[in-house]
Amino acid sequence: MIIREMQIDDLDQVMPIEEELFSVPWSSVGFFSFLLRDDALFLVAEDQGEILGYCGVLMVLDQGDIVNVGVKSERQRQGVGRKLLNALIRKTEEKGVASLYLEVRAGNQAAISLYESLGFCRLGVRKGYYEEPKEDGITMCRS
Ligand SMILES: CC(C)(COP(=O)(O)OP(=O)(O)OC[C@H]1O[C@@H](n2cnc3c(N)ncnc32)[C@H](O)[C@@H]1OP(=O)(O)O)[C@@H](O)C(=O)NCCC(=O)NCCS
Repeated sequence: MIIREMQIDDLDQVMPIEEELFSVPWSSVGFFSFLLRDDALFLVAEDQGEILGYCGVLMVLDQGDIVNVGVKSERQRQGVGRKLLNALIRKTEEKGVASLYLEVRAGNQAAISLYESLGFCRLGVRKGYYEEPKEDGITMCRS
């Protein structure tokens, strides 16, 4: 498995994963517009041409906002998410990012456990931040 930057051609494989995982998925146009931005970094995990997962961050000066993380369901719990985020942390540090922020559904224990194991701490709660279903968001930060 390799971790590399997402290319526009990858969207054919990324979009079905996004639509499988999220009740309010990003559109392909949304991904496309982020891939064109200099302040964004999107990574994919690929195994012999198959995209297993992806993550993305937006960077402003020394801060980064992780905007999505997803691993296709049949390949979850095999270390893909951890590898993606470790690569994202390393690459953003190389670009001068000192603090990473993210938002996660309060009930998403799998993701929260992953983030905590990578050194993210809970900063606060955003009441009713998510839709479909309505749920609080936990803001987390890694400095
Ligand atoms: C959250 C997600 C990205 C994790 O990816 P993954 O490849 O399955 O995670 P990994 O196999 O790298 O697991 C790393 C750690 O995360 C935690 N974890 C992952 N899945 C878990 C689960 N189902 N329950 C509890 N902890 C879990 C564990 O601490 C795990 O370490 P361990 O296997 O040594 O115990 C994946 O489950 C996913 O895509 N979920 C749906 C989309 C989503 O919720 N994205 C995050 C939005 S903020």
